[in-house]
Amino acid sequence: MEIDKVKYLKYHYENFLKINLPIFLQQKIPDENFSRHLFSVEKYTALILRERGFTEKNEFFYLLKIAALAHDIGKIKCDPKIIAKKEKLTPEEFEQVKKHPKDGYDYIKKEQPELNYRIVLNGVLYHHENWDGSGYPYRAKAHEIPFEARILRIADSVAAMNGFRPYEETKNLERIIGELIELRNKWYDPELVDVSVRAFEKNSKLFSIPK
Ligand SMILES: [Fe+2]
Ligand SMILES: [Fe+2]
Repeated sequence: MEIDKVKYLKYHYENFLKINLPIFLQQKIPDENFSRHLFSVEKYTALILRERGFTEKNEFFYLLKIAALAHDIGKIKCDPKIIAKKEKLTPEEFEQVKKHPKDGYDYIKKEQPELNYRIVLNGVLYHHENWDGSGYPYRAKAHEIPFEARILRIADSVAAMNGFRPYEETKNLERIIGELIELRNKWYDPELVDVSVRAFEKNSKLFSIPK
């Protein structure tokens, strides 16, 4: 039974990755950096999951990979100019961007029934909540934030730090780890920071190292 569900989710994940997501991106958010960001969040999520003991044998593994690929789907409601903007966002623009977790949740509920899994919805809705309650949209704290979203919170930040951020320099692994440790207990689940640091150190080749 468990095996059948895992097989189904693997198939579902692969379909989403190879067919539905590329079509969605092409039609709705055709921004190269945006899609690169999603794939990079998925990559770091998978590293954290493996270090935490989840593998291809677990439903959670595939569900969270789907959640990683879909986490910013609510940006479909943002002005495309904001998504493509190369400079830092103005406070007004940032207010608009802050709606994307709830917009993404609503969008899946209404228009993407194939993504309607509790773990995917939790990931989308809570991925900007911080461990100390300083995040958005609900200022949820610590274990009020679903486990899946606490993993995405870290993977999302790391993708932003190691990826192309037009208005900020790309950081190397050492600096990324330094920031994760600095914000351990503030933005990030402390236990998951420890797991992530171990995962990233073991896979340092996957990080682009700027000169
Ligand atoms: Fe986001
Ligand atoms: Fe993101």
